[in-house]
Amino acid sequence: MKLMKISMIVVSSLNNKITKGENSDISNWTSRADHDHYQDMFQNANLVIIGSNTYQAMNLGANPNKLVIVLTKNKTKYQSNFLKNQLEFSDLPPDQIIQQLEKRGYQEALVIGGATIFDLFLNRGLINYIYLTIEPKLFSKGIQLFGNLEKDYNLKLLNVKKLNKSGTLLLEYCFLN
Ligand SMILES: NC(=O)c1ccc[n+]([C@@H]2O[C@H](COP(=O)([O-])OP(=O)(O)OC[C@H]3O[C@@H](n4cnc5c(N)ncnc54)[C@H](OP(=O)(O)O)[C@@H]3O)[C@@H](O)[C@H]2O)c1
Repeated sequence: MKLMKISMIVVSSLNNKITKGENSDISNWTSRADHDHYQDMFQNANLVIIGSNTYQAMNLGANPNKLVIVLTKNKTKYQSNFLKNQLEFSDLPPDQIIQQLEKRGYQEALVIGGATIFDLFLNRGLINYIYLTIEPKLFSKGIQLFGNLEKDYNLKLLNVKKLNKSGTLLLEYCFLN
């Protein structure tokens, strides 16, 4: 069986903050160019994986064109939101989630955060590609990206693109090990 291709997409400040302070609404500091890039990746994904905090922050609804898997240790809280093949909730370890999704025929997944879910998938060695947008900003406070890694990784930069005049950068990496 072909192994699933798993990508993560994230936007951060130059000092690796994925939120500005405690505000979970990232739209007030991310650029239009990043928004467009994110929309493009999100719309084209058949399978999206997200943590419950980000799910709540985004107020994400069910979408007939994709399956969204929300990770939570409290599935009963979201029982009324469950919609088979559109919006599902899981408390399984990430490796098991991916195995089950592979059996269901999914070949690609987009992990959209937040920080806890990125680290969870990275620590299991499940991420193959990173799409990282860096906004030219420094935040004194905020949630740290890659703040709880348990292993070291070697990556290769596949692509770098300047998205606008301010210098928002889109970096695309693959994992080498
Ligand atoms: N800049 C960006 O690109 C970007 C992207 C995404 C999110 N964000 C921001 O990041 C913030 C959220 O990040 P976060 O790290 O606090 O939360 P998160 O990663 O979105 O979600 C964490 C939650 O996932 C669930 N979870 C964690 N480990 C689990 C496991 N092993 N099995 C099942 N469920 C598990 C728990 O939910 P329960 O409490 O329900 O059990 C936990 O509270 C938001 O402010 C959001 O706006 C920014």
